[in-house]
Formats: sequence, structure tokens, C-alpha cells
Amino acid sequence: MSNLKKIKDEFLLKLEKKLSLSEINEIKSNLFGKNGLISSEFKKIGSIVENERKKFASDLNLIKDELQNLINFKIDEIQTEEINKKLEKEKVDITLPERTFIRGKIHPVSQTIDEISSIFSEIGFSVEEGPDVENEYNNFTALNTPDNHPARDMHDTFYLDEKKEKLLRTHTSPVQIRTMLKDKPPFKIIAPGRTYRSDSDQTHSPMFHQVEGLHIDKDINMGHLKGCLNYFIKEFFEVKKIRMRFRPSHFPFTEPSAEVDIGYEIKDGKIVIGEGDKWLEILGCGMVHPNVLKNVKVDPAKFQGYAFGIGIDRLAMLKYGINDLRAFFDCDYRWLNHYGFDPLDVPTNYRGLSR
Ligand code: PHE
Repeated sequence: MSNLKKIKDEFLLKLEKKLSLSEINEIKSNLFGKNGLISSEFKKIGSIVENERKKFASDLNLIKDELQNLINFKIDEIQTEEINKKLEKEKVDITLPERTFIRGKIHPVSQTIDEISSIFSEIGFSVEEGPDVENEYNNFTALNTPDNHPARDMHDTFYLDEKKEKLLRTHTSPVQIRTMLKDKPPFKIIAPGRTYRSDSDQTHSPMFHQVEGLHIDKDINMGHLKGCLNYFIKEFFEVKKIRMRFRPSHFPFTEPSAEVDIGYEIKDGKIVIGEGDKWLEILGCGMVHPNVLKNVKVDPAKFQGYAFGIGIDRLAMLKYGINDLRAFFDCDYRWLNHYGFDPLDVPTNYRGLSR
């Protein structure tokens, strides 16, 4: 019996059995793979004596086609069987009513964070993040606020363990430490995020948002700080002029320190920013204390700069005329629907959008 016939008979026999997909694929590669039996026969064609060559090639092609067709047929069969099994199991109930489409809204705080990030990124700040659960070193000690420092009490800290080693960060300033520890100066970053203090009334919530700013380089001074904040406030409130005042203050991690108020007035029951004789405190800032720089291995003789911490919720309230801070975090959909922002500019004739 010729070799070709042997291969054919052997494999026809094999393919008669009930086979799994992987078994069939194995047969396929035994025959038609790079060194498969059929592939090897094809390689022999050139060395066959001329008067037998034609017949050999035509026999080989016939066998190849026969086996290949059978294999393809078997694969098809298995796949159809699998689909049928699936269809049996997964019935689609086309009588079910359609699901209603609810369009979400962007929360004013998220919108405000986006706006703040884009304004600062235009003037060269990049965005950093840090965790809500901090260690006391990053939140206090590294920021020149040692144990027993009165500022620790002022913060009404939520501690997470009895040893007071883990806490919910009371401000975004620990991101200053994290950033400076992982890189080398210069630094020019902002860090928006959640912060926590045990405090609650119309203008305070136990969870609130801040954005930290840090700019450290050779020759950065308080003038840069004032210029940067002035630019930011005007861009944020979209006004040409803003009344701003720097009040001397104290933070352990800055020297000198200041708090910044912006002028506003109430006109026809609405807050107007930048005019009037009322002042609203919106941020704390100052020149980064040399001790803080030393703690993160930055040489204060070579590098210095400013830091600030802005209350994001306050800014959002002022810009969008929202007068109770607590509503921000009540998760009331009616409120969010009113004060939230459209994620997309979807055409108004789009079906099923409104609630
Ligand atoms: N971390 C301060 C606060 O929460 C704000 C601040 C940040 C002040 C950076 C100075 C520099 O009140």
C-alpha cells in the first residue's frame, strides 16, 4: 500500500470517532502543520521520477482535499452544536419592556475640580493625588506640626486607630510631602481631593474638598504666589478684576503665612464676586517652611517656594449660587438634576433623556 493511502486510511479512521475541538485541531496540525504528514508529502514532489510525478501530485491533492473537507466539516459540526446548546439555555424574552434611559449629571464639585485643574494646567502645574487615609507623619509631623502642637487639635482629626498613626487626612497638604519625597525639585503641582474634619454646620461638612498647590524652584517668592492666586481667581470666576486681600495668618508649614479673602456683595439675592464690601475667606497659603523642605531632603538654601490650600466646595458654592454646603453630599437626585452639569451636549430631540 502506498504511503499516501496509508495516511488517508489512518486518518479517515481517526476522524470517524467523536472528537473534541482540541482533538480535531491536533489532527489538523499533524497533517497540515509545518512538519505535518501531508505537508511533508508535498515537499517530496520535486524528487519523484518524472513519469510518476503527475499522478503522485494529483493523488496527493485529492487526499489533501478529502481530509481537509472532513476536518472542516467536523469543526463546523461541533461549533453548531455548541451554539445550539447555548441557545437552548439563553432565551431572550422579547416581551420585556425596554429599560428607561437616565442621563446622569456631573456633580458641581467634580465640575469645579475639572475647571480648577484646567486653569492651573495652563500655567504649568501638573496634577498629583494622594490617599484619603494618611499616616500621621505625612499629615502632621513632616509638615512641621509635631506632637502636642495646638494645630493638631484645631483640625478635629478623625483617627483610625488607637495609636493615632492612621487618620483621614485633615487637608491636602500631605500630598506636598508625598510629591517631594518621590521626586527632585523643581515642583509645580496641584492636588485636588477629599479631606476630613469632625465639623458640621451650614458651611462645614465632615468631608470636604481642597486643592493643594505647591511651587518650589530657585528664586520663587511671595510675589509669584500673589500673582498666581490672582490669576487663578479671575480665571475661575470669569471676571476681569477681583478684590482680594492677604491677611497675615499662621500655619506651621508656611512662613510667612496668609489667608486670602475675596470681595463680594449680594445683589438681588445673588452673590456677585469681585465687587462690594463683604469678604469671604477661600484659602490659606504661604512660603513653604524650611523645616518642611528639610524633612523631604530639599535644601532650603537652594530651593524655596509657596504652597496654598483652597476650599473647593466654597468656590463651587460661590460660582454656582449654592448656599448650603451640606446639600452637596446629600445625594438628592432632584438637587443634582438642578445644579449638576450635562456630561455631553446631547441634542435636545434625543429620545428618553429627561427625567
Ligand atoms: N492646609 C491648610 C489648611 O487646610 C491650608 C494651607 C495649605 C495653608 C498650604 C498654607 C499652605 O487649612
